[in-house]
Amino acid sequence: MANDVEIWDHMTKDHARIIGFLEGLRVSFGKEPSVIRQAFERFRWTLEKHFFTEERAIFTFLKQEDETGGMINDILREHSEILGMLDALGKDIDDERHIDITGLSDLLVRHSQFEEKVLYPRLDRELSAEHKRFILGRITSIVE
Ligand SMILES: [Fe+2]
Ligand SMILES: [Fe+2]
Repeated sequence: MANDVEIWDHMTKDHARIIGFLEGLRVSFGKEPSVIRQAFERFRWTLEKHFFTEERAIFTFLKQEDETGGMINDILREHSEILGMLDALGKDIDDERHIDITGLSDLLVRHSQFEEKVLYPRLDRELSAEHKRFILGRITSIVE
């Protein structure tokens, strides 16, 4: 019963949705500005909600110890960096400037892969079933 709840499953599914919306944004380039803006807002909404979930439903409830603490600081720094890129991208879209999402896309993929390969498995492995159930309850109240 110890592994009946998994943080990895929920958050990895959400990563796939975010990357899918980023692809949707990529294919919108060259179309009507309203189509691009709509694709951008969908991507931004899902990504910001995901970061909020990580920061307020997961990281808040971890003991900031050893490696996990350092790992989470790096992740939070990347969240800020990505949000900054998102702001810049929003301005480029509003001003109908040339758009390049390569940097954002690369960082986002790298960030997500680190969480999927290192962070989430570690949390699933190390947190007690009760602690995970509590965190999962917080996650699902935001994600679903
Ligand atoms: Fe993250
Ligand atoms: Fe994530």
